[in-house]
Amino acid sequence: MRKKIVAGNWKMNTTVAEGVELAKAVAAASSQVPSQVGLVVAPPFTHLVSVAEALKGSKVELSAQNCADKEKGAYTGEVAVNMLTSAGCQWTILGHSERRQYYGETDEKLVEKTKLALAAGLGVILCVGENLDEREAGKHFDVVTAQIKNVLYNFTEADMAKVVVAYEPVWAIGTGKTATAEQAEEIHACIRKVLADKFGAKVADDTTILYGGSCKPSNAKELFAQPDIDGGLIGGAALKADDFIQIALSF
Ligand code: 13P
Repeated sequence: MRKKIVAGNWKMNTTVAEGVELAKAVAAASSQVPSQVGLVVAPPFTHLVSVAEALKGSKVELSAQNCADKEKGAYTGEVAVNMLTSAGCQWTILGHSERRQYYGETDEKLVEKTKLALAAGLGVILCVGENLDEREAGKHFDVVTAQIKNVLYNFTEADMAKVVVAYEPVWAIGTGKTATAEQAEEIHACIRKVLADKFGAKVADDTTILYGGSCKPSNAKELFAQPDIDGGLIGGAALKADDFIQIALSF
């Protein structure tokens, strides 16, 4: 049975002190969350070591928001996967739409990053999702299918055990506009089918697929009740420990 996960992407928010405080509040409240629901927080790079310390002894796992597409060396400003594991990360988010849109993240780069992350023992939360133009042109299934194929079809069934997919329609991120439960479910079902075509039904069934985009306590229950929605990747609402935990209690 696939795992349910609620992950908080803090993006470029909080100072180190604020991040540690938030992590402590999430860790303290995490015991309310049933054992079958995994919790992950993804603070900025600068916070990882301190947040890892703050999460110690709790069930909350630590993720980076990105990693380098190179192993090490003269790549100023980049952060390598072994730095992330040595800072205490179990996960990295990859391919967030903000990275694709503002920092030229391509599917080709994501293949390299995913290879390095998996080889380092990190779990990967791979983000996919269409923008507003693509949705209005009715291309959302094609866009998401291509993103999944371009990246994940380079990997094996065994690799997929460490991969979580996050469907985040760009038009729903930070806009207050959530995809309806039906809109999200039909894409999630499509993603599972695309995974089944390559890796078989068992791997597809076992893959956790998260929804992200203005997910909050008031809409999480309806989204998480969908058969192919296994949790959420939460932005704004993850910056308040109470809201984040409330979302994790919405299954
Ligand atoms: P919001 O929840 O703020 O819309 O952000 C979603 C997101 O991008 C999570 O990665």
